[in-house]
Amino acid sequence: MLTTTIRKLTPLFMSLALANVAFASTPTQLDLALSASGKKVQSTMYGIFFEDINFSADGGLYAELVKNRSFEFAQPMMGWAQPQTDPYSLNHNSGIASTLNFAENKTNKNVLRVNVFNDKNYSLVNDGFRGMGITKGKDYLLSFYAANSEQKVTHINFQLVDAKDKVIASARVAANNKDWQQYNAILHAKSTEEKARLKITFEGKGAIDLDVISLFPKDTWKGRAKGLRADLIQMLYDLKPGFFRFPGGCIIEGRTLAERYQWKNTLGDIEQRPTMISRWNNEFSHKLTPDYFQSFGLGFYEYFQLSEDLGAEPIPILSCGIACQFNTGEVVPVSELDPYIQDAIDLVEFANGSVESPWGKVRADMGHPEPFNLKYIGIGNEQWGPQYIERFKIFQKVLKEKYPEIILISSSGPFPDGEQFEYAHKELKKLDAEIIDEHYYKDIEWFKKNANRYDNYDRNGPKIFAGEYAAQSVATVSPLNKNSWATALAEAAFMTGLERNADVVHMTSYAPLMAHTEAWQWAPNLIWFNNLESLPTANYEVQKLFSNNRGEELISITANGKPLIGQEDLYASAVRDIDNGIIIKLVNTSAVDKTVALHANNKTVEGAATIISLSSANLEAENSFAHPKVIHPVVAKQKLNANTDIKVPAQTVMMIKVLDK
Ligand code: AHR
Repeated sequence: MLTTTIRKLTPLFMSLALANVAFASTPTQLDLALSASGKKVQSTMYGIFFEDINFSADGGLYAELVKNRSFEFAQPMMGWAQPQTDPYSLNHNSGIASTLNFAENKTNKNVLRVNVFNDKNYSLVNDGFRGMGITKGKDYLLSFYAANSEQKVTHINFQLVDAKDKVIASARVAANNKDWQQYNAILHAKSTEEKARLKITFEGKGAIDLDVISLFPKDTWKGRAKGLRADLIQMLYDLKPGFFRFPGGCIIEGRTLAERYQWKNTLGDIEQRPTMISRWNNEFSHKLTPDYFQSFGLGFYEYFQLSEDLGAEPIPILSCGIACQFNTGEVVPVSELDPYIQDAIDLVEFANGSVESPWGKVRADMGHPEPFNLKYIGIGNEQWGPQYIERFKIFQKVLKEKYPEIILISSSGPFPDGEQFEYAHKELKKLDAEIIDEHYYKDIEWFKKNANRYDNYDRNGPKIFAGEYAAQSVATVSPLNKNSWATALAEAAFMTGLERNADVVHMTSYAPLMAHTEAWQWAPNLIWFNNLESLPTANYEVQKLFSNNRGEELISITANGKPLIGQEDLYASAVRDIDNGIIIKLVNTSAVDKTVALHANNKTVEGAATIISLSSANLEAENSFAHPKVIHPVVAKQKLNANTDIKVPAQTVMMIKVLDK
């Protein structure tokens, strides 16, 4: 049992205790009700919202280093340069490549026809995703398809070159088959380079056709061939997420219905997955990324597999037949909604069906005969209005009849309040919706003021998925937004409110998840990365602290009989974990230190405690690649005794875990 008797501080623990013990001023007494509350914290409480935005998939998680490997971008040679070629000349002293378009091949129409006239002077260069991150001593797996009908080109040389054109890895391949054949080679890196490029030269003179030119690091997450970037996945893994939501975000909806995310296009051999423009390519005129396309190399099979790797519930979100309402807002007539509903039905079979079922077989053929154990599907992303409710209702009826066990997530639109939000809640409640997704991209003060948002939510209504949130230091979609300590601190204050209401809030996730430092559209983000490194933000550290200390059951924590929702700038929540330890999260948003005394059943809480703090005196402080640990957890061990007042320093998020020993 957790001891609550009064004891004296022993000299042994005095020194350990000094850092967090306050001797001055009257402490705020925090009362914990340790008797069982019966209010469970769901395993899905803290999860991950993944959207392919900010080059998070191609150029990010998906470790492919060649951009536009299949020449399928709208401009088929985008990403490829021919430095010694003049497009307006015959190029007799070098060579020239252009794409041939085979319209009958629906998913991979283009191939590259290379005409080499002088092999000493011709080269073809891919610049990767703002360069290619190459690490000294590592191997890189090159593969490509070639058809060498003339057989006059005898060899192809592949070189990785650094920013100064110095060769840092190379391979020479004889690609002699007249017909299409895949070739493979390994490039061993002699040095590290963040902005390497792949330079291709030829031996011999003549024409040769190339396609799907691909380069992956050998070291990927779990060593899977053509897999995912290990450092980034490790950061996700370290969050211990309860769920993994994919693939977005607005990309699910698409700017138009034709550009919606269609999961069936993302399966099978990567050569056959069609490339599509990203909705984020030209969304913001202030952040245009004309080279943002989706290769779907990271597709639904890989998302399910990743969810499994992370130990997280997979949460796919599907188009509900409404294109992004910030864009065209095209709506499928109800009479033509069937294919969309069929996609949802087939998805359940793909994830959970037996290997004999048509879609279960597709999963098995891709290497996963066991089911993925899908439990949730989101119907639409961030939709609103009567047309959404009308369509959700149809999905709900069909899916619940066929798969009553699948929990459906519905949307309440992009804003956390207002006419559309109220309407969605009213209608979804009438439909007995199970989980409603709410989004809040709001300013710092909103997060602090809304720690009580769910205190009075209907306990008998739909459960809540706080599916996208992040404090905006300037304004929503402003490129000036920062991952400052002020934003992370405010989010932590708000999160105590989410946690205190875990009986109604079943899922939460920060958004967006990640961004390439040179190719992003949206800020702030939880994780930043360049071609070699990844950076946890202050907000990441807050998410990790909460998620890694999620607990199992709610404990009431009050001051003067009331939850701490910002009185004297203090916020708190408490849970009991599986080891019967008590976990208390305290947030002090003020510029002055506070002291608290923990009481349970009117006695001081005592026991061995682990205290983890995130803190900064500077609200503008941020982690950076140069200084990644400006906001970083500091761990202390301490024994709490009678009369131990705990100092919660100014602008600090603190997790106290008291062991029942
Ligand atoms: O997270 C960025 C975008 O914000 C998401 O795509 C969308 O759901 C929301 O509007």
